[in-house]
Amino acid sequence: MKTRSQWGTRAGFILAAVGSAIGLGNIWRFPAVAYENGGGAFFIPYLFALLTAGIPLLIMEFTIGQKYRGSAPLSFKRMNKKAEWIGWWGALVAFVIGTYYSVIIAWAMSYSVFSLNLSWGSDTEAFLFENYLGLTVDPGQTGSFVPGVLIPLIIVWAIVFVILFRGVKKGIEIANRIFIPLLVVLFLILVVRAITLPGALAGLNAFFQPDFSAIMSSDVWVAAYGQIFFSLSIAFAIMIAYSSYLPKKSDITNNAFIVGFGNSGFELLAGIGVFSILGFMAGQAGVGIDEVVAGGVGLAFVVFPQIINEIPAFSEFFGVLFFASLVLAGLTSLISICEAYISAIIDKFNLSRTKAVIFAGGLSAIISLLYATQGGLFFLDTVDYFINQFGVAFIGLVEVIAVSWVMKQLKDLKEHANGISDIRLGSWWTFSLGVITPIVLGYMMFDLFRLNLL
Ligand code: PHE
Repeated sequence: MKTRSQWGTRAGFILAAVGSAIGLGNIWRFPAVAYENGGGAFFIPYLFALLTAGIPLLIMEFTIGQKYRGSAPLSFKRMNKKAEWIGWWGALVAFVIGTYYSVIIAWAMSYSVFSLNLSWGSDTEAFLFENYLGLTVDPGQTGSFVPGVLIPLIIVWAIVFVILFRGVKKGIEIANRIFIPLLVVLFLILVVRAITLPGALAGLNAFFQPDFSAIMSSDVWVAAYGQIFFSLSIAFAIMIAYSSYLPKKSDITNNAFIVGFGNSGFELLAGIGVFSILGFMAGQAGVGIDEVVAGGVGLAFVVFPQIINEIPAFSEFFGVLFFASLVLAGLTSLISICEAYISAIIDKFNLSRTKAVIFAGGLSAIISLLYATQGGLFFLDTVDYFINQFGVAFIGLVEVIAVSWVMKQLKDLKEHANGISDIRLGSWWTFSLGVITPIVLGYMMFDLFRLNLL
């Protein structure tokens, strides 16, 4: 048997895990989700979800990968022969996410270039949908390829493949060592500029203004858990794969706290940056924040270009900073998404890394081409909706119940983690995973299915 690849350093692993966690979800998803779900009051369910589900699950996944030394399917199989499918399910969802996540990075790449001369003009919405995406066909039809999307998409995949071919230490670790510090620097410059714009304070007030009645609503809790799961990349087979490359004696619990808080810190920074900018925009237009708030595609590719047009000095530079941040944050997440299923395939079929990257990564890249057609956005929206509604928190729930209730593994995993970590896990961890998370998530899922299917 081949020996398993390993991270070169502890910092390398932490940066890679943080790189997976920090992604588009932090920059364009979190600010809007928080604002729509109680503003300042959203931090209560958010922190609760982080401390009772996010970090505990991260510790659990790190421990599973490190203890069983395999990709998610192999680790679950070693835990219990009947549990392999849980890992495959996570890997499959990661695969599906990767097919469209790559496309959004490609758009951000194009927009980094458009920033140089603000080529989106004054009608940024028409520019995105008509000129750039060429969205002219009816939903359900692909139409023809859009070269403006196709070319950057091929570049995205080429970068990811080169990194993955080089393996864990020489590829993934080095890429994250370069991309993540660079991202933090670029983003900090962006946020400092943002908070010094006129109107920024009004935006921040709107963002942090708490609406305490919101926390009584189960939707808000669903949103908080969904955000934590997506943002920390848990339950997608990713963190198990990454931790399977840890040396036998590395500290798991400590690492999980660093990754969890690092990700949330970045998320908060993004919220501050985005809302300062929205405040500026609302002030310029003489309207309330409500009129300019957006998330997702609308925020990044319609509202932001509009705002960039208005920025008094060096607006082009500001545009490049924003879109380059999206590209860097996205790339490090996409690498982890691919590694989740590539490692699974290497373990299962005993393939070489090169072959696994070509077959599985290649398949994902080919499927992603579908979204580079004129009908691409419709497909992207539909797939993203289903993944978020039914994929993300649901696998998390299944994983927690399987590990804590069905296979009764918490005690063993706790002993393993405590044997090598500075921070000792106690009843907080077992209670969060064994009781709180299954109950809250179970209730959430019940509510979701009731609302959608009945
Ligand atoms: N955590 C990443 C983000 O916040 C996205 C991601 C989702 C990465 C699922 C891997 C798997 O954007």
